[in-house]
Amino acid sequence: MEFKKQFYDLLTRRRSIRKYKNTPIDKEIIERILNGAMQAPSGKNRQNWRFIVLSGNKKNEYLLYSQMAWQKLSPILKTRLKPSLYEFTERFFYTLGDAPVIIFCYSHNSPDEKHLTNVGSVYMAAENINLAAFAEGLGCCTMGAPLEIKTQVDQFLGVTEWPEYKKGELELLCAITLGYPDHEPPKAPRVTESRVTFLE
Ligand SMILES: Cc1cc2nc3c(=O)[nH]c(=O)nc-3n(C[C@H](O)[C@H](O)[C@H](O)COP(=O)(O)O)c2cc1C
Repeated sequence: MEFKKQFYDLLTRRRSIRKYKNTPIDKEIIERILNGAMQAPSGKNRQNWRFIVLSGNKKNEYLLYSQMAWQKLSPILKTRLKPSLYEFTERFFYTLGDAPVIIFCYSHNSPDEKHLTNVGSVYMAAENINLAAFAEGLGCCTMGAPLEIKTQVDQFLGVTEWPEYKKGELELLCAITLGYPDHEPPKAPRVTESRVTFLE
């Protein structure tokens, strides 16, 4: 397949995975994915992303925090999701789909940079993680849920001891679960109408 077709195929076929096989991921693969993440563009090329990779016992301990985030989110989701999807989502938050790895994405914010530029730069890298994971035959799910219990997560990960955190410059932006997919979810539909305006 030609490169262009393969590339767009990657963008269209990627989807969020919320159930994983209990196969561990080689460290080499994780490093390759994170190296891919760090090829992303960033405001003033500050490369302000900081990643914390959790596996093993520390990952298992995090499940308690994911459950805490669920307690905060479940009332609103109960009104928004149909019962079967609500139950699936609840299971996902309790187990994180048995993902063997979770990557926490932080921004080292600069007072000289616009906040949205700091945030956007890290999300550029997060999207690279999503695409690189797919290219590796892995699946992932970007999660804003940890932001519900941001300070507890910061303490659990130990970043509260970092000098940049003490200066108020380190900000958790999302977590990304990572593992070999154990389901094939349908493609979440995309609306392309009324999303783009061309001016000339
Ligand atoms: C910033 C961001 C935060 C998200 N937070 C969550 C989350 O907390 N829990 C979850 O299950 N999915 C989360 N998602 C995944 C979205 O639900 C998913 O990307 C969307 O439904 C489209 O599906 P797709 O990724 O399969 O194309 C998040 C995605 C993004 C980009």
